[in-house]
Amino acid sequence: MTFQEEILQGIPSQLPENPTLDASVNRAPKRKEILNAPEKKLALQNALRYFPEAWHKTLATEFLQELNQFGRIYMYRFMPKHEIKARSLKEYPGKSDQARAIMLMIQNNLDHRVAQHPYELITYGGNGAVFQNWAQYRLTMQYLAEMTDEQTLVMYSGHPMGLFPSSQNAPRVVVTNGMMIPNYSKPDDWEKFNALGVTQYGQMTAGSYMYIGPQGIVHGTTITVLNAARMKRPDGNFSGLLFVTSGLGGMSGAQPKAAKIAGLVSVTAEVNPKAAYKRQEQGWVDVVIDRIDQLIAQVETARKNGQNTSFAYLGNIVEVWEGFHEAGIKIDIGSDQTSLHNPFAGGYYPVGMDYEEANNLMASGPEQFKEAVYASLRRHAAAINKHTSNGTYFFDYGNAFLLEAGRAGADVFSTSTAGEGVGGGGYKYPSYVQDIMGPLCFDYGFGPFRWVCTSGKPEDLDKTDAIAAKVLQQMLNEAPEEIKPQLSDNLHWVKEAKKNKLVVGSQARILYADAEGRMRIASAFNEAIRKGEIGPVVLGRDHHDVSGTDSPYRETSNIYDGSQFTADMAVHNFVGDAFRGATWVSLHNGGGVGWGEVINGGFGMLLDGSSEADDKLKSMLFWDVNNGIARRNWARNPHAMSTIERAMKAEPKLKVTQPNLVDKELLNGLFE
Ligand SMILES: NC(=O)c1ccc[n+]([C@@H]2O[C@H](COP(=O)([O-])OP(=O)(O)OC[C@H]3O[C@@H](n4cnc5c(N)ncnc54)[C@H](O)[C@@H]3O)[C@@H](O)[C@H]2O)c1
Repeated sequence: MTFQEEILQGIPSQLPENPTLDASVNRAPKRKEILNAPEKKLALQNALRYFPEAWHKTLATEFLQELNQFGRIYMYRFMPKHEIKARSLKEYPGKSDQARAIMLMIQNNLDHRVAQHPYELITYGGNGAVFQNWAQYRLTMQYLAEMTDEQTLVMYSGHPMGLFPSSQNAPRVVVTNGMMIPNYSKPDDWEKFNALGVTQYGQMTAGSYMYIGPQGIVHGTTITVLNAARMKRPDGNFSGLLFVTSGLGGMSGAQPKAAKIAGLVSVTAEVNPKAAYKRQEQGWVDVVIDRIDQLIAQVETARKNGQNTSFAYLGNIVEVWEGFHEAGIKIDIGSDQTSLHNPFAGGYYPVGMDYEEANNLMASGPEQFKEAVYASLRRHAAAINKHTSNGTYFFDYGNAFLLEAGRAGADVFSTSTAGEGVGGGGYKYPSYVQDIMGPLCFDYGFGPFRWVCTSGKPEDLDKTDAIAAKVLQQMLNEAPEEIKPQLSDNLHWVKEAKKNKLVVGSQARILYADAEGRMRIASAFNEAIRKGEIGPVVLGRDHHDVSGTDSPYRETSNIYDGSQFTADMAVHNFVGDAFRGATWVSLHNGGGVGWGEVINGGFGMLLDGSSEADDKLKSMLFWDVNNGIARRNWARNPHAMSTIERAMKAEPKLKVTQPNLVDKELLNGLFE
């Protein structure tokens, strides 16, 4: 059977054989056993509704075994026989190129080279699911292959509710993931309702079919590290500058690579030897050392000689902060990327306990393990505090480090600025969005714009790189001073991008651009498609952007008017993109910071060279960025206030409510 035939078949008419699973494939961890017996019965009933009654006896036993063994029903038996990977657009069966583009993007998210746990349909982040089970994959692909441009496919957390009549200008697919009644949005609610098969954690680009592998994260991390380094050395000479952090996992593993691209010396601690050596094999970290004295000696030598070596320390990050303090080593920049959004189930390993011991204790003695995590966080923060009083610049990397350290009773709260609206928590350190991404990128409209060449040809990607570089160069010549650094960083990135060899799976590229940049680059792509120079292109973005995400400890942590705890912006983005021409739109609960902590949304748009695509890209991209700028402007963020003024000058139909600023002395006088 060809892959096209298998897609068109949907749920097969004969019960398929159980597949042999490849033992080398990285599997999702066993999920918490959360359902009681009546709830397990409900989960089985829910799963079996995808299949004819004749199969229920066989499948009920099999699915119960999956539920008991893995904590979820993945329906492994229904995994397709075809290889899942992004093919060229033309190869997909169907009646709609837009639907074909979505199939391509779904398959890319589940490609074994791309996805973290492909058998469990998880793309990244440990729980970022494209679908909950293989029946959903099969049905969705079948619907996409059948649908026309006058229908819309409705996706409820991986479940295809069905095709509904709509219009050519409507999105082909509308996705929601993890949308809960707010009171049911605690972490255990995800465990329970996901085990029941009625919701899923879509992360950001997993459940919205927009993941492009490690490239996105390397680019974002490079921008962050580069700008953090500029805080220490505005002249741009980073020779010998030392960056200390932790985590060589999915996203965190990009840190040493980014520090290398930015020209710093870096130390990244990692407790899991597999993770550390994987990054070394990949060439993302230069040297792995497991003794703190050797690490100190080699770091000193690298700094003196101006070598921008990236070191992995095989051990606990707390040992690095403490050891470097005892040895009198001055750290210039510090952060942390342990997975503290998931602190008690493998995201953070407490100091003084070996890796295996910790893994055992988290299952056998969860309360004792929690205590150990909190004690470690108190020590961790105390060591960081000693360094920062010596001049280290420390920032929270959006991994909930300050949130959890604060809950642990660590000394991380600010006293001097308490009550002055310093982000969500009143911490003594900023988050990377408060200091770097927010004011330097998001408030100007710069965010992670990405594209995928659907021909699958590397030559097309080269051509789009050249087009994007040409547009950025033109913009750099004309731009106001305030956005020149962002434009030149991204011009440099896109010129060097091919050399960094970060393409895995689809032929994709990312760069940061503002609304004008995104529209100009997209228009130039559409023109090249029209002339037949390249094949169709899918546009999208990470949700970690100017407008896509409401997340008080991350994307919107540099909003200080209290509205960082609201989620109107993300919802408006999703709805507004949908009626301005997006090919698909998505809205999620969850994302990097945790279930219940963030609402985020995104889009995908197929450029096919048509004049309709020209109109849609202008209308949608302008809105997609400026919605966030308008909101950041209303929150009184100075760069957003100037950016929205420029946008209103460029587009007379835009008219945004602007804030009046109050003299602080006037208010202070009322409270004296
Ligand atoms: N990279 C980014 O741009 C970015 C942006 C926002 C948030 N984050 C956050 O960063 C965190 C990390 O993401 P990830 O995908 O890399 O997660 P991950 O779980 O794959 O990796 C974290 C790594 O930290 C290691 N670790 C845990 N405790 C440790 C300790 N005490 N000392 C040394 N190593 C330890 C783990 O072994 C693991 O390999 C997440 O919370 C994520 O949401 C990253």
